[in-house]
Amino acid sequence: MTDTITIRRPDDWHVHLRDGAMLEAVAPFTARQFARAIIMPNLSPPVTSAASAAAYRERIMTALPDNPGFTPLMTCYLTDDADADDIAAGHAAGIFTAAKLYPANATTNSAHGVTDVAHIMGVLERMQAIGMPLLVHGEVTDSDIDIFDREAVFIERVLEKLIAALPGLKIVFEHITTEQAVQFVDSAGPNIAATITPHHLHINRNAMFASGMRPHAYCLPVAKREQHRLALRKAATSGSVKYFLGTDSAPHEIHAKESACGCAGIFNAPYALESYAAVFDEEGALDRLEGFASEHGPKFYGLPLNEDRVTLKRDNFAVSDKLQAGDATLVPFHAGSELIWRIVQA
Ligand code: DOR
Ligand code: ZN
Repeated sequence: MTDTITIRRPDDWHVHLRDGAMLEAVAPFTARQFARAIIMPNLSPPVTSAASAAAYRERIMTALPDNPGFTPLMTCYLTDDADADDIAAGHAAGIFTAAKLYPANATTNSAHGVTDVAHIMGVLERMQAIGMPLLVHGEVTDSDIDIFDREAVFIERVLEKLIAALPGLKIVFEHITTEQAVQFVDSAGPNIAATITPHHLHINRNAMFASGMRPHAYCLPVAKREQHRLALRKAATSGSVKYFLGTDSAPHEIHAKESACGCAGIFNAPYALESYAAVFDEEGALDRLEGFASEHGPKFYGLPLNEDRVTLKRDNFAVSDKLQAGDATLVPFHAGSELIWRIVQA
């Protein structure tokens, strides 16, 4: 049995670092494990211009005085009025790595998102021309579509049409949750990839209702049936270069989660790599963890592989119920249970 694994340092291709005191509290957890991270732009107000992304990048680095080697990769929050020239200039200047499509009102701070992809076709054509990836929150928002079907319906109504219209556009289908998404990504060309979160590999929708309502298992897209979780585990551990690590770590203070209308988001940054390692171990695929965590993402984005290494050791430990980070009390993913791999050298 393998008891130690050493892999190239991974990157997180989807994370919410927030701003202000919360940014200071949570950013070190991400920088401890990952060399680079794709930073989600759904602040309030959202990051919609190259100037605001450059300023946010500065705030992130100021919040990480002990991690000068960490690289935040910034994204542009697309709105109906997105400015193709500013986005292309920001990309050329190395400020924007990608742009994010939130369908309006699909999730946290998405009120300014895109109401119809038709409104941003000019921007997407420009992104296709310059090779800038589009990151997609793939859920329709229609109230008559069951919440558990919103990702599958998005594929039919939006994504299939989008790739037919712009066959060369690089797209990352973010935090996929369904077997339909796996089938879609598998059958699409090499310019279509997907991120998979640790929580969608560990939990199915029962976790939200286990002996009562469990707000800390609630995120968007919501976890689906077991058959979907199994399809995600198969995809993540398959070795396919189309799948890579993206935690979607989305911290909310405990009172905002444990509320009559609790926020969506799972805070998995503290033990993200350990959480993925458990899945790859359970699937007998530890030899494929490095590809998923550290190689497929940079290859898709056209970035160099990290040269330093991280070592994990098989060593059970209990995850605490709560973490105090600055003034914020946060409940980490796996709170109150055990993980079987520990980072020994980061
Ligand atoms: O669960 C989620 N939380 N899903 C998202 O898409 C957004 C995120 C957040 O920002 O809290
Ligand atoms: Zn997210």
